[in-house]
Amino acid sequence: MEVIIQPNAEAASSLTARIVARELKANPHLVLGLATGTTMERVYLKLVRMHREEHLDFSLCRTFNLDEYVGLFPSDPNSYRHYMDEHFFRHVNVDPRNTHLPNGLAEDLEEECTRYEDAIRRFGGIDLQVLGIGKAGHIGFNEPLSALRSRTRVKALTPTTLKQNAPLFGGEDKVPRRAITMGVGTIIEAERCLLLATGSSKAEVIALAVEGPITSMVTASALQLHPRCTVIVDEEAAASLKEKEYYRWIFENEPEWQGYR
Ligand code: GLP
Repeated sequence: MEVIIQPNAEAASSLTARIVARELKANPHLVLGLATGTTMERVYLKLVRMHREEHLDFSLCRTFNLDEYVGLFPSDPNSYRHYMDEHFFRHVNVDPRNTHLPNGLAEDLEEECTRYEDAIRRFGGIDLQVLGIGKAGHIGFNEPLSALRSRTRVKALTPTTLKQNAPLFGGEDKVPRRAITMGVGTIIEAERCLLLATGSSKAEVIALAVEGPITSMVTASALQLHPRCTVIVDEEAAASLKEKEYYRWIFENEPEWQGYR
């Protein structure tokens, strides 16, 4: 795992978008794993800008989102399909047929989960998975106690997550109790993982995920098992990390990051 500390949320999102852009330029057929949440909005804004101003081309790439609520229509403003369309898909030249999210309205949810896993496999697996982190330490909707080898499945949301997402729904009781999410095992099979966290509300959970033990209580900690995972944080989200100076030295000195400094 590598940790990159940026001065603020703007710089952290910008770096995340630049890494995505570089991977996409190197491989126009990139299979890109995508995330939702307020943190990601800035990243999409930047990718959209790169598409408009620098002709960043999404026409051949395929996308797979991490998760979707059970029971919401794609037209529902709180569905992740709607989020993705609004923040990203409709502003770039990605082919809508190449954008994938789990179908939270499927009659047979278990079958839908298997279908989603099969689709990821059919496209050769995810090349680059972008991730946020929930206050419950989750990646996707892999709530505490999610098996570290779990695959795409239906997951009940914890009170912490219901509370975190309540403002978007206008009350905790309106947040769907369940979601389909890629499993921890699915996520860590991606070739490369990129986790972005910004703001002081993420400081504690980032310290646990990065420097704490690997535990299903904080599913983001499973990323420590990944051979190529980069965690990008702003100063606020980095506040509780113990080895900040070491991380800064690596970013400033290792040749891999030369083009990004
Ligand atoms: C939801 C998503 C997660 C995301 C999290 C972070 O729970 N399922 O994939 O990481 O939100 O949200 P935010 O960026 O709003 O803090």
